[in-house]
Amino acid sequence: MSDLITTHDLGKTYGDRTVVHNLDLRIPEGCVYGFLGPNGSGKSTTMKMLLSLVRPTSGEVHIMGRRMQPSTRRGLLREIGSLIEAPPAYGHLTGGENMRLVQRLLGLSDGQVRRAVRTVRLQDHIDKRVRTYSLGMKQRLGIALALAREPRILILDEPTNGLDPAGIEEMRRLLKQLADRGITVMVSSHLLGEIDRTATVLGILGEGRMLFQGTREQLFARSVPDVLVDTPEPDRATALTSGWGAVRDGGCVRIPGIGHDTTAHLVAHLVHERVAVHGVRREEQSLEDVFMDLTGGGGL
Ligand SMILES: Nc1ncnc2c1ncn2[C@@H]1O[C@H](COP(=O)(O)OP(=O)(O)O)[C@@H](O)[C@H]1O
Ligand SMILES: [Mg+2]
Repeated sequence: MSDLITTHDLGKTYGDRTVVHNLDLRIPEGCVYGFLGPNGSGKSTTMKMLLSLVRPTSGEVHIMGRRMQPSTRRGLLREIGSLIEAPPAYGHLTGGENMRLVQRLLGLSDGQVRRAVRTVRLQDHIDKRVRTYSLGMKQRLGIALALAREPRILILDEPTNGLDPAGIEEMRRLLKQLADRGITVMVSSHLLGEIDRTATVLGILGEGRMLFQGTREQLFARSVPDVLVDTPEPDRATALTSGWGAVRDGGCVRIPGIGHDTTAHLVAHLVHERVAVHGVRREEQSLEDVFMDLTGGGGL
């Protein structure tokens, strides 16, 4: 699979403060790229640099293998739909009227507009004024506006921000559906868990630096989850395995971050010492847990 967006050494400095450091983004074609990091970590600045809304201090942006520069900018930006910050619609107009404004501006067909509205499931609300829309509906209209020109790439900055759980679920479904159609979606969030299951590739930013970039599987493979041993003698078992860092955890013994071989040794040792081992399991890990491991407990 080829990369649709790449950057080399992309950086942004405001005054004497560097807010984005030497980013090498790799966004494969057809993926949902989850761009995660806390508020202030540089997500919006990076997305704006991809869209030429902010001028990079250093580095390069390549879209579909072509370098973004004055001579290529117009053509490349035509392939990208975006939703940055607040949804870009007029509240006193209906959803449909907002769509027609963009249609005229870009010279789009009725079919393109109709398809975009149907994709975000707003067809039943299209004749209502946008100011009566819920936040989720406004976000979906914003995506329809970005989608109508049928771009190959969608860049969405925190589209789940402020949505209720149902709105977040609807947004996740929409992102999946867009990716299924072959649109490459880059979507940011300051909440690790909000889009992590929707995204197939993750880029995790902390203080303007890329802390991890790769698939979910690669991220999870880098962390070793805790092992829990279920036994009727947790105190004795904890003492016998204290060399591995074991601690008692309720009726179980918790051994932090040990691999397969060590787990086998540990269980053999307990059995040798005649401890009744009723069960051994690995703790389910959330993205937050994995990330805490990667950052040495500091988290984001
Ligand atoms: N125009 C600007 N001038 C100065 N500092 C800015 C500007 N835009 C953003 N910043 C700073 O850059 C950092 C990253 O901001 P931003 O890209 O908005 O982060 P995020 O989207 O991850 O919340 C923040 O500390 C922010 O205050
Ligand atoms: Mg932001």
